Amino acid sequence: TNSKTVEINGKKYATDSWFNVSSTVLSLTSRKLHLQKDHPVAITRKIIESVFPEPTYRYYNEFDPVVSTYENFDSLGFPPDHPGRARTDTYYINKNTLLRTHTSAHEAELFRASASGGYLISADVYRRDEVDRSHYPVFHQMEGARVWDRDKVPGKDLAAAVLADLERLPKHNMTVEDPNPPFHPERNPLQAGHHTEAEAAAVAAHLKRSLELMVNEIFSRAKAAAAAANAAAGDASPTDNKNNEEPLRVRWVEAYFPFTSPSWELEVFYQGDWLEVLGCGVSRQELHAGAGRPSQVGWAFGIGLERIAMLLFRIPDIRLFWSRDERFLSQFRGVEDDPSRIRPFVPFSKHPACYKDVSFWLAGAFSAAGGNPRGGAADWHENDLMEVVRDAAGDCVEDVRLVDEFTHPKTGRRSKCYRINYRSLEKTLTNQETNEMHDRVVRGLVEKLGVEIR
Ligand code: PHE
Repeated sequence: TNSKTVEINGKKYATDSWFNVSSTVLSLTSRKLHLQKDHPVAITRKIIESVFPEPTYRYYNEFDPVVSTYENFDSLGFPPDHPGRARTDTYYINKNTLLRTHTSAHEAELFRASASGGYLISADVYRRDEVDRSHYPVFHQMEGARVWDRDKVPGKDLAAAVLADLERLPKHNMTVEDPNPPFHPERNPLQAGHHTEAEAAAVAAHLKRSLELMVNEIFSRAKAAAAAANAAAGDASPTDNKNNEEPLRVRWVEAYFPFTSPSWELEVFYQGDWLEVLGCGVSRQELHAGAGRPSQVGWAFGIGLERIAMLLFRIPDIRLFWSRDERFLSQFRGVEDDPSRIRPFVPFSKHPACYKDVSFWLAGAFSAAGGNPRGGAADWHENDLMEVVRDAAGDCVEDVRLVDEFTHPKTGRRSKCYRINYRSLEKTLTNQETNEMHDRVVRGLVEKLGVEIR
């Protein structure tokens, strides 16, 4: 009996007593960071896509975040009492409609639509979660899957077809720890009655190699970025070089997901710790059957893009991804089309900016008529001004920009206006501190450059 509605990406939805989406989270549904050119989330998406090439894999990046409870949970075999369904954990529009908590919500739909081959879905996902530097209520995931049709492979020999595809994949030189058998009757069962042992083992092997190649690509790029930054800083210490030559170490850990069996998590040894990077497994046959394609068999994985972007770019706080600050965004320009330009992110101040303008006439009032005195307008170099500013205010100035220029039509006198952004890396500057610095800048310009303040 609640007839209120909420609008998300141009569509209206009826809310009910289940509705629990804050206006902040609602406002983020339109951001689509994974599609924003040169955003680190988009760059990360592209790097992963490059490991799963078209046309074998098709990319889906525009799925709407509003899905049914059925798609997000029931279609994937989540039991009715699964804790993920709780309103404390999930953002509901109404009892039957929610903001997807994972990209797996689209698996059934794609299994139905597509014949054999693979796909990647990138999208924003929503979870009510703790507040810290690595959690945010909205983040981005990529779902990948590869499907074979038992009835369409040569000789209907599924295992042979999967192994033939595995043979075509590149090799790598990572150290892979995979201590468990591909399936285990209690801990990680094969889907008896659906797959033979040979089939499950072949699908698992194809899945694992594909994902190893993906993390190899990501971590090689992270390593190259760090090395390039060190080289630029003139720091090529022998220990660094040695570490850089060590092959990447990864390990497969048995896992559980309601919609895959057997299932794994892939962990990477990174900066002295095992880091969980993704979940995956052999798709539950009920999903394929439910999608009207019982002869299809395949694997699926899900990976969080921010987490990967944080280590690719050394981004220290997940909130930064949502920043519209040029000092954040400008650091990634041009990288999407040339990922060899990835460099570690350089942190900037969180303290407030204070803009102050200074307008002046250049010295040499009659430069247009010749007879230009020493230090006149013809001698104007912007870097001299920059030096005066540095002298007077040091690192408390973040940037200086020319905002206006003017030449008097009669006298030929030239004037300029610069905007100075006072912002400390360490603290919030007081008005008095900023005013004193600005006074020093103005005095320096007059004394050292001979300008006349307007
Ligand atoms: N959707 C799962 C998650 O968000 C990840 C996953 C995807 C696991 C596909 C297995 C297969 O945790």
